[in-house]
Amino acid sequence: MTNTLPIIMLLIISNLLFFFSQLSTAIDTITQFQSLDDGNTLVSNDGTFELGFFTPGSSTNRYVGIWYKNIPKRRIVWVANRDNPIKDNTSNSTMLIMSNDGNLEILTNNNQTLVWSTNITTQSLSTTSSHVAQLLDNGNFVIKANNNTDQQSNNFLWQGFDFPCDTLLPDMKLGWDLKTGLNRQLTSWKNWDDPSSGDFTWAIVLRSNPEIVLKKGSVEIHRSGPWNGVGFSGAPAVTVTQIVETKFVNNTNEVYYTYSLVNKSNVSITYLNQTLEKRQRITWIPEDNDWRVYEEVPRDDCDAYNPCGPYGKCIPNESPICQCLEGFEPKSPQNWDTFNWTQGCVRKGEETWNCGVNDGFGTFSSLKLPETTHAWVDGNMTLENCKNKCLENCSCMAYSNLDVRGDGSGCSIWFGDLIGLKQVSSVQQDLYVRMDASTVDPNGDVSGGNKNNHTLVIAITVPLVIVLLLVVIVFYVYKRKRKQRGVEDKSENINLPEKKDEDEQDFELPFFNLSTIIDATNDFSNDNKLGEGGFGPVYKGTLVLDRREIAVKRLSGSSKQGTREFKNEVILCSKLQHRNLVKVLGCCIQGEEKMLIYEYMPNRSLDSFLFDQAQKKLLDWSKRFNIICGIARGLIYLHQDSRLRIIHRDLKPSNILLDNDMNPKISDFGLAKICGDDQVEGNTNRVVGTHGYMAPEYAIDGLFSIKSDVFSFGILLLEIVSGRKNKGLSYPSDKHNLVGHAWRLWKEGNSKELIEDCFGDSYILSEALRCIQVGLLCLQHHPNDRPNMVSVLAMLTNETVLAQPKEPGFVIQMVSTERESTTENLISSSINEVTISLLDVR
Ligand SMILES: *[C@@H]1O[C@H](CO)[C@@H](O)[C@H](O)[C@H]1NC(C)=O
Ligand SMILES: *[C@@H]1O[C@H](CO)[C@@H](O)[C@H](O)[C@H]1NC(C)=O
Ligand SMILES: *[C@@H]1O[C@H](CO)[C@@H](O)[C@H](O)[C@H]1NC(C)=O
Ligand SMILES: *[C@@H]1O[C@H](CO)[C@@H](O)[C@H](O)[C@H]1NC(C)=O
Ligand SMILES: *[C@@H]1O[C@H](CO)[C@@H](O)[C@H](O)[C@H]1NC(C)=O
Ligand SMILES: *[C@@H]1O[C@H](CO)[C@@H](O)[C@H](O)[C@H]1NC(C)=O
Ligand SMILES: *[C@@H]1O[C@H](CO)[C@@H](O)[C@H](O)[C@H]1NC(C)=O
Ligand SMILES: *[C@@H]1O[C@H](CO)[C@@H](O)[C@H](O)[C@H]1NC(C)=O
Ligand SMILES: *[C@@H]1O[C@H](CO)[C@@H](O)[C@H](O)[C@H]1NC(C)=O
Ligand SMILES: *[C@@H]1O[C@H](CO)[C@@H](O)[C@H](O)[C@H]1NC(C)=O
Ligand SMILES: *[C@@H]1O[C@H](CO)[C@@H](O)[C@H](O)[C@H]1NC(C)=O
Ligand SMILES: *[C@@H]1O[C@H](CO)[C@@H](O)[C@H](O)[C@H]1NC(C)=O
Repeated sequence: MTNTLPIIMLLIISNLLFFFSQLSTAIDTITQFQSLDDGNTLVSNDGTFELGFFTPGSSTNRYVGIWYKNIPKRRIVWVANRDNPIKDNTSNSTMLIMSNDGNLEILTNNNQTLVWSTNITTQSLSTTSSHVAQLLDNGNFVIKANNNTDQQSNNFLWQGFDFPCDTLLPDMKLGWDLKTGLNRQLTSWKNWDDPSSGDFTWAIVLRSNPEIVLKKGSVEIHRSGPWNGVGFSGAPAVTVTQIVETKFVNNTNEVYYTYSLVNKSNVSITYLNQTLEKRQRITWIPEDNDWRVYEEVPRDDCDAYNPCGPYGKCIPNESPICQCLEGFEPKSPQNWDTFNWTQGCVRKGEETWNCGVNDGFGTFSSLKLPETTHAWVDGNMTLENCKNKCLENCSCMAYSNLDVRGDGSGCSIWFGDLIGLKQVSSVQQDLYVRMDASTVDPNGDVSGGNKNNHTLVIAITVPLVIVLLLVVIVFYVYKRKRKQRGVEDKSENINLPEKKDEDEQDFELPFFNLSTIIDATNDFSNDNKLGEGGFGPVYKGTLVLDRREIAVKRLSGSSKQGTREFKNEVILCSKLQHRNLVKVLGCCIQGEEKMLIYEYMPNRSLDSFLFDQAQKKLLDWSKRFNIICGIARGLIYLHQDSRLRIIHRDLKPSNILLDNDMNPKISDFGLAKICGDDQVEGNTNRVVGTHGYMAPEYAIDGLFSIKSDVFSFGILLLEIVSGRKNKGLSYPSDKHNLVGHAWRLWKEGNSKELIEDCFGDSYILSEALRCIQVGLLCLQHHPNDRPNMVSVLAMLTNETVLAQPKEPGFVIQMVSTERESTTENLISSSINEVTISLLDVR
């Protein structure tokens, strides 16, 4: 007896302890007729997940949701009433209850208003007497029979995992229950503070060979590629630290995708982001106390649904990104060359290709497999039978193994055009594409295609290299001999350009469709306008197809040329390629519209830096000196190195564009020619240029030569060194423009005063003074006194003694407060034949 009392005492104490622990630990279940008030939460048994009421971001609505309890940067992983928010945030009688019929309901206004319900039919509930709602350790919120203690059971009456929101948690299934027709798909939040269903979705598309497809509205954005037993065909190589394992199940009962954590202590989820239009895998990094993006889809332009059209292969980071499969050629070369890939490619010799006669298969590796809408599969067929099966039907275009594990197994067959091909280096799956056997060697290699056949490659290259070496040696010996004999090899130099001409005959400048340009520039909207140049407005645009940024110059109706001549001129100009010239990408001619398409320079033009109090600080002395020399090099190329001999005629800071590294690129070169303001075309009476930059002989007499460009360069030089505009600013002591001011300071020996204030001491005085002196030399009144651009560059970069400048030429002054604008004065005097001869346009 004496022994029992302590035992009873112990039992009572332990019971008490148990009771208290029950009270202190949070609950994970709601039983029938119980409720969860706003302010209280459920916590899963292991403390991972928490369910309760929340208000997202700046919203005033309240929702019931689930989040990771111990992660400070809260992410809502599931929302019960995403499309039925609790609007009245003042009501303090909001609650989640389990009603007497076993449904979970959200009620407000003292049980008056039903906001949300699980809507299970009472019929399915009545079979069990009592139910509970429980938040499981994996984040699944379920309704189940009271006596069901299984966490993974399929016998839930209802489960949150069947109604995913924007997040796929580990162990959650994405896909179909074929028995009930339930399709579990992810749907993004509308916004970061609005959980209601957006239009960005991720779902399995049921086909004989299913894929998971990202959609925006009804537009497919990305497809995973078919599952190949190891992963999805379009997925990149498995990352080194694999924290999740993915699984794809396809059988008669269900088709789904799921993933599980390799180590349950990690937190990693996949969710949809409507704003980015991306699916992201994010992982919680405790050390950073933040989420980190591990994977993002789409990854690149090639992840688009059908980036290159039929039989086109998309190669990320390649330019252009699309190529035809080996053995195929663009269906419309013209569209293809303007980066319109929609029509894709066709078999070479498609017209004469006769199905069933002489058919073979080309082997393609490292490809994301084609879209599977018209595919057929058999899990047990051998590859040989698969091939025969494909040969039987003329609309079968390709086959491959279904499963790549081991030696590969099963058969997958594609009917109709193959679309959505992308080069993915990690894919270890060969695709066999039907083509004429004559273009395929016995190994399945397409001529000019795969390089698996090393012996063949060696057999061809070795003799080729030897022959090339011989040719080089013979040529070298020959040249030396001629030099020794003292023969200047002039004839060669003269012939060279002509030969080149013939080579370049087939050079095709891309011609853009007007509609492409309209799409790219949003119909020339004012928001896209970058500025107004001498020959018309310039717009920024983004090509819809490859998202390339372009600048479009819409030439005002000034061009007097015919379309043909215009085309020829543009082609010639597009051949002018130099580091310091803006690249001409193409042109667009349609009806009255004539446009030039340039590469887009994100840093805009020099004037936006030079004359802006804040921006000018970004241009330190070394950058400015680099810009000066770059412009000089570009001009040298235009004036004498290119085959065209271009006089720019409108050199000024707004025509100097800057690339990402602040390298200068001259724009608008050759435009005067293109637009027909040029004595070759006989239109001799228009002076194109900008007051304040024009040489006196040009402004007054309409005489232009490379020396008038040198004059403009001189002004540019002074502006860059001083950071001041030639005009627009007044120099009270001089009643002059910048040139007059600089000249006065020079005469007084005070040139240092001209140098930009914002440099402080961080510039090289001798270099800056040299620039000023060279600038003044360029500005001398008589064209013959001015150096040419080659001398200018030499003077800038060498420590030679410079000549003393004479008084600068008269610079045209505009009275009043006129804006810097291009003037097209009508000047009747005739123009001298100063222009260096222009190449005839054939
Ligand atoms: C309810 O919403 C109003 C704005 O509609 C807001 O001012 C107020 O702070 C909110 N109250 C609570 C308790 O969230
Ligand atoms: C809200 O709660 C306060 C006290 O907390 C109570 O006085 C008030 O009656 C409640 N309002 C409603 C609508 O239940
Ligand atoms: C609302 O319903 C819950 C659960 O049925 C009950 O506990 C609560 O008293 C009810 N409240 C009112 C105001 O009727
Ligand atoms: C439940 O059914 C009601 C009425 O049919 C409907 O308005 C509501 O949206 C349904 N709720 C859910 C979560 O499906
Ligand atoms: C739960 O109870 C019901 C009826 O009360 C019974 O049919 C069922 O077998 C029980 N389930 C378990 C897992 O004990
Ligand atoms: C989507 O991504 C943006 C940018 O990273 C982020 O600001 C936003 O919160 C994300 N949206 C959601 C719903 O997580
Ligand atoms: C998916 O399962 C269905 C039904 O079992 C089968 O017909 C089909 O071939 C399977 N597809 C793949 C790709 O395994
Ligand atoms: C998971 O991580 C924990 C913490 O680092 C470690 O103790 C455990 O061994 C890991 N489990 C597995 C299966 O790797
Ligand atoms: C996964 O968890 C383990 C243990 O907590 C940790 O050491 C590791 O860094 C985690 N991995 C990632 C990718 O977060
Ligand atoms: C493939 O073969 C296995 C074993 O022979 C068989 O059980 C299975 O049903 C076959 N599958 C198909 C799709 O024919
Ligand atoms: C070839 O396959 C297509 C697509 O499955 C089918 O519509 C067509 O009837 C087949 N043709 C022959 C001759 O079997
Ligand atoms: C691309 O070419 C197709 C076929 O010619 C045409 O329908 C489509 O409008 C073009 N797309 C663009 C953006 O120019």
